[in-house]
Formats: sequence, structure tokens, C-alpha cells
Amino acid sequence: MAARLPLAACIVAFHLCLLLLPSSSLRRLSEAETAEVRHGVGIRPAYHFLPAKNWQNDPNGPMYHNGVYHLFYQYNPLGATWGSGNLSWGHSVSRDLVNWAALDIALDPTAPFDHNGCWSGSTTILPGGMPALMYTGRIDNAKVQVQNVAFPRNPADPLLRDWVKPAYNPVISLPADVPGEYFRDPTTAWVGRDSMWRMAIAAKVGGPNGIASTLIYRSKDFRHWKRNDLPLYTSRAASMVECPDLFPVAEPGTEEGRLGYASGTASGAMRHVLKLSVTNMTQDYYAIGRYDDVADTFVPEVDGERSVEDCRTWRRFDYGHVYASKSFFDTRKNRRVLWAWASESDSQYDDLARGWSGVQIVPRKVWLDGDGKQLRQWPIEEIETLRRKRVAALQEAHVNAGGVNEISGAGAQTDVDAIFEIPSLEEAETFEPNWLLDPQKLCEEKGACVPGGVGPFGLLVMASGDLREHTAVFFRVFRHNRKYKVLMCTDLTRSTGRDKVYKAPYGGFVDIDIEQHQRSISLRTLIDHSVVESFGGGGRTCITARVYPVHAENNNSHVFLFNNGTGIVKVSRLEAWTLATAAVNVVHGG
Ligand SMILES: *[C@@H]1O[C@H](CO)[C@@H](O)[C@H](O)[C@H]1NC(C)=O
Ligand SMILES: *[C@@H]1O[C@H](CO)[C@@H](O)[C@H](O)[C@H]1NC(C)=O
Ligand SMILES: *[C@@H]1O[C@H](CO)[C@@H](O)[C@H](O)[C@H]1NC(C)=O
Ligand SMILES: *[C@@H]1O[C@H](CO)[C@@H](O)[C@H](O)[C@H]1NC(C)=O
Repeated sequence: MAARLPLAACIVAFHLCLLLLPSSSLRRLSEAETAEVRHGVGIRPAYHFLPAKNWQNDPNGPMYHNGVYHLFYQYNPLGATWGSGNLSWGHSVSRDLVNWAALDIALDPTAPFDHNGCWSGSTTILPGGMPALMYTGRIDNAKVQVQNVAFPRNPADPLLRDWVKPAYNPVISLPADVPGEYFRDPTTAWVGRDSMWRMAIAAKVGGPNGIASTLIYRSKDFRHWKRNDLPLYTSRAASMVECPDLFPVAEPGTEEGRLGYASGTASGAMRHVLKLSVTNMTQDYYAIGRYDDVADTFVPEVDGERSVEDCRTWRRFDYGHVYASKSFFDTRKNRRVLWAWASESDSQYDDLARGWSGVQIVPRKVWLDGDGKQLRQWPIEEIETLRRKRVAALQEAHVNAGGVNEISGAGAQTDVDAIFEIPSLEEAETFEPNWLLDPQKLCEEKGACVPGGVGPFGLLVMASGDLREHTAVFFRVFRHNRKYKVLMCTDLTRSTGRDKVYKAPYGGFVDIDIEQHQRSISLRTLIDHSVVESFGGGGRTCITARVYPVHAENNNSHVFLFNNGTGIVKVSRLEAWTLATAAVNVVHGG
């Protein structure tokens, strides 16, 4: 992923530039500054994926192979900061996508064709079952990017511990019309009707002010690659995209399209999803559309205010704090599974003091919604094996206007699944059309503490007992053209008493007809210390936030239901469980 320019740290910390000092000063914290830093007590996630220590960013090359799940990830083995030139592929394995064992680093930047970093890429399983890693290497002081391949030294090793980079690398050199630092992140390859391999690579084409493109390369033998004349897709509006992901989805109600690219050719009956990570916004966007498997082009099918040309108007997997997502087809359960990086949103000082930075979201199952217009996402079912104590099971409860009800027993490691029912939509506020383009701004203007008609209602999580600190995850329903528009927000305004923490407003619309849904809407939230992952409307709108409450150090977090609208909100169903700590890259003595 990510070109980390001189302002690298800013991208990583999401616009927190003011907080970040040049890296030369990072080793010289004053005592006072050090004392300010929280050391991560109560903050380290208990079931999200992260290495035992140090920095991680993009998920790389996820796959299921010979009974084992593999996750590779961008890893700096030397510390808790990005460390562009030292980036390696960390490697962990799992049987259930929940508990993970750390293996040795799979790729480190030691070859002439990657000695300035082994950057992001994907795995492809070749005929006969041989996995191949395709990744971006940075080769020289100009940090020119090329694409390399690596294979397991011993394909019979069930854990694929040892990887070999053939001396014939790079397999794809920098094209003449692409600036050196803008050519990266190969996808999983697939086979076309002509029996040739194809893969997509992100590039800025046509000089420093070029066009954000996703190029297609073709090969007979996975070693000699040739670029197609036409790109898969270009977006003039974005200056650079990275981490492309292209995958088929089954039409609603059919069994087709269940095979992932890695294992089969595309059939005309499927539609496809193209996801692009827009570099300068650190946000992922996707469109559902048509992939032409002869021309290798993708045409998005957009609706409403979205545009074909500008990928920044597309839908998002997650309207919160995630980036550089990557999916894989899980042949064990015939499902597509999505990973994505959720970086820290406090300062680099904090990362250094804690000794770690960055988590992956809980893997999500992804499928095409029955409306054919949007994807739905849901935490993989395996996460439910961590459920321990069922702390709440309510039916037909009420949250009165202005009310707050505690879900007692729920805390910093909790899974909450609720359905809210709105007895009357009469009081819904009127929607203004200019809000359509910027749900995030609307969430900023109408946060949890701005009383409304129907909503805000939802959850207060990672809350101190006195509610001084809390993160609000909520819905608000507006009246719009004789219909209703549902907004979902995660409001961090009161998430922590600490300063120097980035508290963005996060929000997206939930694309459902709430009247057709019995005036009901569901909310599932996975709470994990500093991670709050929420799935609104059955996974139609997802928001992940990173939070750093001070009270968390005392292991004393609470969860509440709240309603700041003018009418009653019914909770037609509510279940909540405490979640156990997963074994995630735990270091055992040998
Ligand atoms: C990479 O690691 C070396 C130490 O081996 C260090 O001197 C250098 O600053 C690191 N580079 C980056 C970009 O972090
Ligand atoms: C990102 O780049 C595009 C195209 O150059 C530009 O229009 C846009 O303002 C940039 N956005 C940010 C947040 O820098
Ligand atoms: C609900 O609104 C009142 C009035 O603005 C405010 O004092 C209270 O903090 C709000 N509740 C939440 C959870 O924001
Ligand atoms: C909170 O829990 C953590 C991890 O279980 C433990 O290390 C820490 O001592 C606890 N803190 C308090 C104040 O109980």
C-alpha cells in the first residue's frame, strides 16, 4: 500500500499531522511527554488480529490452503512505526480465523529486487495446488516499484513456513509511463477464457499528474507478463489508488459465482465488485458492476448520486477508520472473506510507548444484497465461538425519550446484537437534499447529544460508569421525499478524556426502506477495548472506530442503550455476550 511520502506519518495517523514530529525526534521523548503517554493498558484488543509487537498495516495474501488459513501482513520487525524501507511480510496461520499462531517472517527486504521494502500483494493458488505470492518490491534509492513472485520452499509443509524468491525477479518492471513510486499491490490472479492468467496492479499512468489506473497484466506461465492496452478501470478524479480488489459475486438467489477468482474463470452470469483504496483519502470504495472477461474492463453500475468516473462517490465497505482491505475466497465454507487494516488514531508517541500499532478488523463474510445494489458484511460465524456469558436477552423493552438503560455485565469485550423498532415515524426530521453527499458531516452536525425526532438511538459503548466517556453508535431517521432516510453514525466526541486523539465523525446512510422493514433496524457491535466495529441494517452499513478511553485502564467499561429522540424506541430483541480473549500470536516460551 501507501506511498508514505515525507508526510507519511500524516497519512498513517489520518490527518493528525500536527501531533507528529519528524521521525528524527521520535527517539527523544521528554519525561513529561513519556508520562503523558498511555501504555496500552486496557487498550490492546483481545480478539482482533495483531502481531505480538511492532507495526502492521495492510493485510496481504490471505488464503485457505490444505486446511490452514494464512494471513500475511505488512510488518515492521524493528518497531512500532511504519518503517517503509524495512517493511516485511509477517505471517500467521489459523484453523478458525480467530486463533492465530505467529510464524517467521515470510518475505524480508534482502534481495536486489526488494531491498527497500516488501510491500503489499496477494496469493494465487496455481494448478496442482502450488501457492504463489505476488508482491511489490522497492528496488533502489529512487524507491522504484516492481512486482515479484515467491514460492514455498517446501510445498508439502502444511504451514508453508519458508518462502523462496526466484532470482529471475522482478517479473514485472516499472512501465515507462508510470512514475517509480506509483506501481503496486498486485491482486490475486485469475484465468480467462483464453487460459491466460490475469492480475490487476494499481498505477498512476502518464507522469506525476497522471491518472489513477488499475492495469491488467496477462501471462501464460505466471513468470512472463504483458500489460493489456486497456486498463481495467481509470478514475480521473482520484490521483492515485492502491490495493485493488476484483471479485465475483453471486446474483441474489442463485448459486452462481460462488467460486472465487483464484479457483475458476468468470462466468457471464455473475457480477463483479471492484474495490479501490484512494491513497490521499485513506478510504476504500467499491462498486458493483460488469467485468468484461474478453476486454478485461470493468464498468461500474452506479445509482443515485454516485458516478462512474469518480470512485470517491462509490459505496464504502466501512465508513469508519479502515483502509487497504483485501478479500479472499474461502473454499472451506464457500464464502468471500474480507480483511482490512484499522490503524491507530492517537499519536505516534503512543504507538512507540505501547510498542505496537495497527489491528485488522474481524474477518467479514461479504455477499451481494438481495437488492443487487450493495454488499452486505457480517462478522464470520467463528467469532461466536468466543461468546461466553450471555449477559442480556431482552424482548420488547423500551428506551424512553432521553433515556439511558445499562446492559449490565457488558464491557470492553462484548458482542451486542439488537433490533430496534420505531413505533411511529411521525416525528422524523425533514431531510435536506444537500446532506446526501456528506453523511459524515451530517453525523458531525447531528451527533448523539443533538436531540432529534426519530433518534438518535442506539448504543453507548466503552462507557465509563458516569458516562463522562462513551462512544455513541446510533441511527437517526429522516423524512425524505415521502420516504425515510436512515443515517448511521459513530460519534467519538466523548470517547476519551485524553487530548491529541483524532476524533472524526463517522457516518453513512443505511440503504433500506425502513417502512418495508416493519420500521425496524438492527445493530450489531463488536467491542474490543480500543476497537468498536458496528454493522447496521444487517451489515449494509459498517463503521469501525478506534477509541482510547482513560477509564479503560481500570477494566471498568459499560454498555448502555440510549434514545435522544422525542418518541419511544422499542428494543424488539437484544442479545449480548461477553467475548473471551482469543489466542492471537501469543508468544510462548519456545
Ligand atoms: C530500517 O532499519 C534500519 C536498521 O536496520 C534503520 O536504520 C532505518 O532507519 C530503517 N528504515 C526505516 C525507513 O525505518
Ligand atoms: C486527492 O487528490 C485529488 C486529485 O488530485 C484532489 O482533487 C483531492 O482534493 C485530494 N484529496 C485530499 C483529501 O487531499
Ligand atoms: C442527549 O441530549 C441531551 C441534551 O442535549 C444531552 O445532554 C445528552 O448528553 C444527550 N445524550 C447523549 C448520549 O449524547
Ligand atoms: C486490567 O486487566 C489487565 C489485563 O487483564 C490487567 O493487566 C490489569 O492489571 C487490570 N487492571 C486493573 C486496574 O484491574
